[in-house]
Amino acid sequence: MPTVFSGIQATGNLTIGNYLGAIKNWVVMQSDFDCIFCIVDLHSITMPQDPVALKEACVSNLALYIASGLDPNKSILFAQSAVSYHTELAWIFACSTPMGWLNRMTQFKDKAGKDKEKACLGLYAYPVLMAADILLYGATHVPVGEDQTQHIELARDIVGAFNRQYKVEYFEEPICINSKVALRIMSLRDGRKKMSKSDESDYSRINLTDTPDLIIQKIKKAKTDAVPNIFYDEENRPEISNLLNIYCAFTGVELDAAQVHFKGHSTSQFKDELSATIIEHLKPVQQEYKVLMTDKGQLLKIAQQGADKANAIAEKRMREIKQIVGLWDN
Ligand code: TRP
Repeated sequence: MPTVFSGIQATGNLTIGNYLGAIKNWVVMQSDFDCIFCIVDLHSITMPQDPVALKEACVSNLALYIASGLDPNKSILFAQSAVSYHTELAWIFACSTPMGWLNRMTQFKDKAGKDKEKACLGLYAYPVLMAADILLYGATHVPVGEDQTQHIELARDIVGAFNRQYKVEYFEEPICINSKVALRIMSLRDGRKKMSKSDESDYSRINLTDTPDLIIQKIKKAKTDAVPNIFYDEENRPEISNLLNIYCAFTGVELDAAQVHFKGHSTSQFKDELSATIIEHLKPVQQEYKVLMTDKGQLLKIAQQGADKANAIAEKRMREIKQIVGLWDN
């Protein structure tokens, strides 16, 4: 079976954006691929993190992965920093990647902000570490949000650069899989901004661990517009369109059918049904999460078993890679 690799940064709470856009698809992929899903804590530290919170986020994210249906017996689930080969391969790739390619990365430009001179090297090298994550395991399929497509293209370019430089065909270009529904779950405060776990306002997102009351509150306060009726118009009604997208993503109902269903509903009626839907779908995940979090020792054990499996694959490949490059490979 082909290998799938994907990851989510370990910061704060996972949102319904992570769930609908990533984790839900990963769960399905488990039957058709050898899956490796990673909590990418090394990518997290490209931005300042609180060490205690980072470690806690890692454990609680693992619990959410499992509660959402990822099965540690089917997929390899682990923390990126538990396998040091990721950084080792990232260095090797860094030596084959022209800076010009990195200069084109839009995420760096966004995250570095105005004063690029002050951005850290790790943030600049972020996509190189991503390429290492994927290629360390020879993964060929990478499910990610659209915002990561450019990074996967870079990983493909790095494959070419490495193979050409060392005259081998060792690495295979990975394919980027964007989720079918073109899922872009947007902020509840601004329908043109992606829902983000790092947004200042907690009211901009629904976290997977939010209580039913809080979900109701957040959806009630979610920005909408003064246009009567519920219909999809991404251009002129980004907020209503986002809420419709969220409804469809949870229920699996097609957009057209959802618009027919909500015809004649007031915004508040629509919102009531939407929050009830979210609450209902998150309930089993939250129940399982609570149970898992009562036994952190067990979670750490699962993480260690995942890391051991990942490490075994990575070690073998890293030895081959070091041979190709002419590095110490004993
Ligand atoms: N940068 C990705 C994101 O923010 C997370 C990530 C890190 C990743 N390494 C990866 C995704 C490798 C896919 C494959 O979404």
